[in-house]
Amino acid sequence: MTKEIRLNAFDMNCVGHLSAGLWAHPRDRAYTYKDLSYWIELAKLLERGKFDGIFLADVLGVYDVYGGNPNAALRQCAQVPVNDPVLVIPAMASVTEHLGFGVTCTLSFEPPYPFARRMSTLDHLTGGRAGWNIVTGYLDSAARGTGLDAQTAHDLRYDIADEYMEVVYKLWEGSWEDDAVVRDRENGVFAHPEKVHAVKHDGKYYRVNAIHLCEPSPQRTPVLYQAGASSRGRRFAARHAECIFLTGSKRIAASTVADIRRHAVLDGRDPAEILMFAGISVIVGRSEAEAQAKLDDYRRYINPEGALALLSGWTGIDFSKYALDDPLSYVKNDAVNSIVEALTRKANRKWTVRELVEYGGLGGPAPTIIGSPSQVADELESWIDETGVDGFNLAYIVTPESFSDFVDLVVPELQRRGIYKREYRPGTLREKLYGSGRSRLPANHPAARHRYPHDEPPC
Ligand SMILES: Cc1cc2nc3c(=O)[nH]c(=O)nc-3n(C[C@H](O)[C@H](O)[C@H](O)COP(=O)(O)O)c2cc1C
Repeated sequence: MTKEIRLNAFDMNCVGHLSAGLWAHPRDRAYTYKDLSYWIELAKLLERGKFDGIFLADVLGVYDVYGGNPNAALRQCAQVPVNDPVLVIPAMASVTEHLGFGVTCTLSFEPPYPFARRMSTLDHLTGGRAGWNIVTGYLDSAARGTGLDAQTAHDLRYDIADEYMEVVYKLWEGSWEDDAVVRDRENGVFAHPEKVHAVKHDGKYYRVNAIHLCEPSPQRTPVLYQAGASSRGRRFAARHAECIFLTGSKRIAASTVADIRRHAVLDGRDPAEILMFAGISVIVGRSEAEAQAKLDDYRRYINPEGALALLSGWTGIDFSKYALDDPLSYVKNDAVNSIVEALTRKANRKWTVRELVEYGGLGGPAPTIIGSPSQVADELESWIDETGVDGFNLAYIVTPESFSDFVDLVVPELQRRGIYKREYRPGTLREKLYGSGRSRLPANHPAARHRYPHDEPPC
């Protein structure tokens, strides 16, 4: 019996997320990303489909690797313009009760102190439904936008990220004691100062000497997502992440899942408690023929220039220097190594640039599942059974159509098979994922050792 499937909708606060050119499709509504109504309607749709969450990607740079400038990305709105993803979440939380919010925030360009406040605020406003997708980024343009000449080297970014996590853990878990806030109007005392502790961190990359600005939020530490599956990325994930977003084929996903869970054991964590979400997109129709017709229709809108601008950004490879029938070979650089590895060294075939555009044009570097509701459900079940993943980050081809098709056609089929929830569990996002009473990170997570009373002075 397949285990219960978890589902996040994968979106981004921009027009063109992963399917370059599909913004021009007559039914696509991504261009309304600037209107709260887009997000409000999407959140209500996803909660009707009992999705675990909405997962918002984000980049703090532009895709200017292709051709050495952002022209293709701008022409094709390939993840630019892009608005701040955090700012649409409170509106979605105000019209939903259970939907979780996983938001991508790169830790490479914002100090931990102000960032910790933003996430605590989000956890308060959502009633404990905040999640943070921890990424280190992959675009030099982001670094140039923040005063650097280029991004920090790939593996060093993760070393810095490890210390960043220690700092935010201390702020979220170790600054305010659980009973610091008393709100005692009679005696005019809001909080006991002796129960609020300054975090004195003096590390290799960060220095902090301050109390956390926010009183404890329902989860204190937001649910920790992570995306990045290079060998260094997997070690980082095994140490910190609760939910991991991975991309690639079944074979690559299965080996990544096994490797991360092996590392987690070495870090003293329970591997079963790390939930894996595979990136996919789905084209479903009431019949196979209807799904095929949708696929043929969508394909007409794929824009190769936009697809190559995205691919060049993810891989750090300027595909404008390749002919369409040139094969792709492995290159070591500071971009998303796991995507380069998945398309070269770990691939059981040689990809040409033309084939990458065809494959990645719809839904980006993740597989697209096409078929009737039962065919799609069969494939999702085989993913769960064969790879060990716990669920999916469902990317859209056309929005909100890809999501509403899934909610109306696939969700009922999964529920009929008993592998998808009919009702939400109560509580915070972490309780929905791990069980009631589990609003806080478990004791075997590295963040827990910073809880008050710390087993060592908070420095
Ligand atoms: C499936 C997946 C999704 C990602 N999404 C984002 C994102 O939304 N924003 C971002 O800055 N980085 C994203 N990244 C990349 C991360 O920033 C990652 O830390 C970095 O690129 C290194 O990845 P690697 O360990 O796979 O080489 C993603 C990576 C993967 C594998």
